[in-house]
Amino acid sequence: MRDKPVTFGHKGYIGNDVCLPCLERCSVAQQFEDNFHRKFYYLRLSVTDVCNFKCTYCLPDGYKPSGRKNSSFLNLDEIRRVVKAFADCGTSKVRITGGEPSLRKDFTQIIETVAATQGVQKVATTTNGYRMAQNVASWKQAGLTHINVSIDSLDPRMFHQITGENKFHQVMAGIEKAFEVGYEQVKVNVVLMKDLNHQQLPQFLAWIKDKPIQLRFIELMQTGEMDELFQRHHVSGVAIRNQLIADGWILKVRAANDGPAQVFVHPDYQGEIGLIMPYEKHFCESCNRLRISAMGKLHLCLFGEQGLELRDLLQHDNQEAELIARIEQQLQTKKVSHFLHDGNSGMTPHLASIGG
Ligand code: 5AD
Ligand code: SF4
Repeated sequence: MRDKPVTFGHKGYIGNDVCLPCLERCSVAQQFEDNFHRKFYYLRLSVTDVCNFKCTYCLPDGYKPSGRKNSSFLNLDEIRRVVKAFADCGTSKVRITGGEPSLRKDFTQIIETVAATQGVQKVATTTNGYRMAQNVASWKQAGLTHINVSIDSLDPRMFHQITGENKFHQVMAGIEKAFEVGYEQVKVNVVLMKDLNHQQLPQFLAWIKDKPIQLRFIELMQTGEMDELFQRHHVSGVAIRNQLIADGWILKVRAANDGPAQVFVHPDYQGEIGLIMPYEKHFCESCNRLRISAMGKLHLCLFGEQGLELRDLLQHDNQEAELIARIEQQLQTKKVSHFLHDGNSGMTPHLASIGG
């Protein structure tokens, strides 16, 4: 029999000594939790706003610097401190996002820094994939455990049309390289868009038949700077879900630090299909993530508020207690749900601004 753990702070125990977030014994002293009993195991850390793609639903005119003064992004020390504070409060998974995170010259060191944090078991990134073929081996070596890459269409011309970049083959080569260097699965994000890719399920299915790809259809979300694009292209994922179920796909059970995707598997397919449907009722009930913007603000929701400044408490190693107290206090104001249904996308101009 194993010894009992010293503390039970994760409050995530499912057995006598097994912690749900860790799936093992743990000694986390405290746990971020909100007023709706949601616990936060998952941190999305944006490291830059900058992106070199021009996705129609995100940065159709490309990245524009904000003109803010002192607009430098979190440095490695600040990243180390914020991630440590979260890990000390139960975070076991960190996703490095942007903008395009791999545009940071020190991206590999950022991965190393996050991966070296005690308690962090999964280090993920979401990338547009343009640097993957070149650099994924060093990312893996630095400790990156999971990769999400966006491919909105399998037709190179449509890919170009949607992302503004003629880089389909480059991104595909990046995925192949990821498998070569030892990733067992790669997640691929597809933003569902009516009349562009919503009828391409058969092509996507054929692609993942013999590849360990989790292909995730994300419903288009309305953001502040979007004009009529949402009205023109938003389509629910329900039709895809119905089709999958009719074809014998089966819904998988979620783990505590998983994202909100409903994941389907099929005995004839090596790949999996995920559906992310933020407009569905109860979507926010399983919320387990918090966000830090590239400028060091805490965001409780993708479609939340202005964000709470944390940067002043990321300057010295001895500020952690104060930092945690500030985060905990803000967490008590986290709302039960986003207000997207009311067409209210909060202060979020586009997802590159706070790391989709
Ligand atoms: N709606 C849905 N998904 C979006 N993404 C970016 N903007 C939107 C939006 N408005 C996706 C990107 C990427 C992930 C970070 O978020 O395609 O896969
Ligand atoms: Fe860049 Fe991602 Fe936004 Fe596309 S969705 S413009 S890849 S940040």
